[in-house]
Amino acid sequence: MAGYFTEEGSAEAVNARMDENIDPRLAEVMACLVRHLHAFAKETQLTQAEWEYGIDFLTRTGGICSGERQEFILLSDTLGFSMLVDAINNRRPPGATENTVLGPFHVAGAPIRQMGDGISLDGKGESCLYEGRVVDLDGRPIAGARIDVWSDNADGFYDVQQPDIQPRWNNRGVFVTGPDGAYRFIGIKPVSYPIPDDGPVGQMLGHLGRHPYRPAHMHYIVTAEGHQGLVTHTFVGDDPYLGSDTVFGVKKTLIAPFERVAGGPAAWRSPFDFVLVPD
Ligand SMILES: [Fe+2]
Repeated sequence: MAGYFTEEGSAEAVNARMDENIDPRLAEVMACLVRHLHAFAKETQLTQAEWEYGIDFLTRTGGICSGERQEFILLSDTLGFSMLVDAINNRRPPGATENTVLGPFHVAGAPIRQMGDGISLDGKGESCLYEGRVVDLDGRPIAGARIDVWSDNADGFYDVQQPDIQPRWNNRGVFVTGPDGAYRFIGIKPVSYPIPDDGPVGQMLGHLGRHPYRPAHMHYIVTAEGHQGLVTHTFVGDDPYLGSDTVFGVKKTLIAPFERVAGGPAAWRSPFDFVLVPD
């Protein structure tokens, strides 16, 4: 009967309660969420104890969240959900640089630096020259492209994780391309690091026999007038965690060469071109 709850018609009973005059997208998303949530319980024949464990897990996940700690995003990341939503929303033609997760450590307002400048302020780590061009799909240079870069330091921490230890804006900077579309800066060869694993998500990874590490990477946001914004990383090609990134952020096309160089401005060199798609 309409409105009464049965095991068989459980999702339909819940969805039928929605008013017809609510926002259509909200109705679509909620109805689908309820259908899949109920199907999950039916397929697994979820026990009462498991339901209680799940409620407690979500309660602890919320409890550890703060202005500096977002455990729900970590949960989404480690379940591959963040990368799935990123993939759905950033389908690009072949040849364009692929997107990957933004991550929790971007800070807006990093200093604008001159091409060739260094971004490492703590003197730690092996220096690395990053250089290449920002181009369109036809290989034409894009002038005025804004490249916002950030990485961890040689100890595996971002400056915002160690405000009392690292200088502000350590391993961060913004560079703007000239007419040749070229960029060039000196950072460090980044190192792999664990995501914060002292909370419920870390415990989940432990129960699943998973490690919490991300392979070493340099973060980029590249924006230019008339082009889609690019949020991506380049990955250090010899990292042992490339095949098991705990947040699933690695794409083959984002693995960059890191070459040792003698007598250059830095101990390493990593060339990489960013190819943007028109708006
Ligand atoms: Fe990162």
